[in-house]
Amino acid sequence: MKQPIGVIDSGVGGLTVARELMRQLPKERFLYLGDTERCPYGPRSEDEVRAFTWQMVNHLLEKNIKMLVIACNTATAYTLSELQEQLSIPVIGVIEPGARAAIKVSQNKRIGVIGTEGTIQSEAYPEALKAIDPTIRVNDLSCPPFVPMVEEGILSGPVAEGVVKRTLAPLKEMNHIDTLILGCTHYPLIKQLVQEEMGDHIQVISSGEETAREASLILAYHRALDTSDEEPVHEFYTTGDIEKFRVVANSWFEDPVKILELVKIEH
Ligand code: SIN
Repeated sequence: MKQPIGVIDSGVGGLTVARELMRQLPKERFLYLGDTERCPYGPRSEDEVRAFTWQMVNHLLEKNIKMLVIACNTATAYTLSELQEQLSIPVIGVIEPGARAAIKVSQNKRIGVIGTEGTIQSEAYPEALKAIDPTIRVNDLSCPPFVPMVEEGILSGPVAEGVVKRTLAPLKEMNHIDTLILGCTHYPLIKQLVQEEMGDHIQVISSGEETAREASLILAYHRALDTSDEEPVHEFYTTGDIEKFRVVANSWFEDPVKILELVKIEH
């Protein structure tokens, strides 16, 4: 089916999910919309995140997408069920896939979750983990400095290392977990730093891979996979600074992005 797949995020973090989607579904065309202008979503109220998410969704629905992937954890936590109920296309988020991936690898059933204030307060991860296995124990921690740091493109070096060390200190003190979920799509961009800080004995999980697997299964089930031999040209949209977005996107993908446009969403 030739229609594109829509991916929304609060900013550039969802590119980590988009990259995995493109790797696992190389024939599909993706439309990515990052709400960089209003990022971060983490500290915002549930009502605000829902309103912003719907605005992004409506923008992509006009482009006739066949599936929607909510790459933002905060938006997934607040809007996944209502979008699934109200849209006629399949909608997937990143929280359940992330929970499943963590359960697959954890040996001691003690799982850590880091995310934005909104995601952690929503308890969406503990609920998703315990829905699969009620005996799982969860330690979670919100990490407010991470998203602004990543959006600024500070992904390595002494400043980033210091921020990661200070922010993760409370989680290290609880140190019984053997698996840590990066419960925010921005965090895979600093995965290496998080891994070094937590130590090699902790499995650090990003949900992109499992989310892409789920997208692939759903498309196959609906017989909606694109089978054409045409090379897909992906489209990227941002509500904020185009050049900043381009720098992060180009550092994250092998080929430079071809189509990148500014969109103005009604406030
Ligand atoms: C944010 O916008 O605060 C981060 C995105 C996420 O929650 O994954």
